[in-house]
Amino acid sequence: MIGIFDSGVGGLSVWREVALLLPEIDLLYFADQDYCPYGPRTLADIRQRVEKVTRFLLAQEIDMLVVACNTASAAALAHLRGLFSLPIVGMEPALKPAVEKTNSGKVAVMATPATFQGEPFGRLMARFASGVQVFVQPCPGLVEQVEQGDLDGPATLGLLHRYLDGLPAQGVDELVLGCTHYPFLRPAIEAVVGPDVQVIDPAPAVARQVRRLWERLDRTTLGIRQSPRFFTTGDMVRLRQQLRQLLGKEVAGEADVHAVSLA
Ligand code: DGL
Repeated sequence: MIGIFDSGVGGLSVWREVALLLPEIDLLYFADQDYCPYGPRTLADIRQRVEKVTRFLLAQEIDMLVVACNTASAAALAHLRGLFSLPIVGMEPALKPAVEKTNSGKVAVMATPATFQGEPFGRLMARFASGVQVFVQPCPGLVEQVEQGDLDGPATLGLLHRYLDGLPAQGVDELVLGCTHYPFLRPAIEAVVGPDVQVIDPAPAVARQVRRLWERLDRTTLGIRQSPRFFTTGDMVRLRQQLRQLLGKEVAGEADVHAVSLA
């Protein structure tokens, strides 16, 4: 079984890709919605919380963990790998493909404030950003809009205009979605930045990495997937509605949804 977690529903953008690539593997999704958003919190705070979430998932006997949250990965991935021996896949803003693809030499990254503060982003910049100009765009508020189900309403569009309007005029041609909530805003983001800016969602590449690691684990499975399981530290009725909005009626209909609290 693979455990996938995020502060909220953002990691579902990774869940849906993993579900597609590994149709026979049981998936357990954990949304830490009582503690969402992680982005404005301190890195130490996030690290502590994420350790608790991981201990909960280990108690459910997962074989592999996907930290489907850029913020949690920035704050805690190294910490988790030091503590636990199971394979862990994390997220990082897809700067490398953006730098490889750009024609103008100007790329932008959208993420939460905490993701940019984490040491991993500094390392990523040092590794891949030489010779290109990187526009770093913190986007407070967008996670909350996705959690509320507002994917293209006036409040969400207002934030997107505020954060993104300047980018095309400055010559940016690649835009990295550095938070797993943002792929659900992709149509609105593309409408705001226009056709000359390519949007990069790392979820399919992350799912391929999950599959590579899973194949190395060499687990036998029953070959039939159980109903997908979803846990939230928030409200399970609301999570079911969110599943319907973000993953569709079919997934929401067969989903096994639970509310849990982390002591
Ligand atoms: N989906 C999370 C990420 O990828 C959102 C973090 C938050 O809760 O602020 O960064």
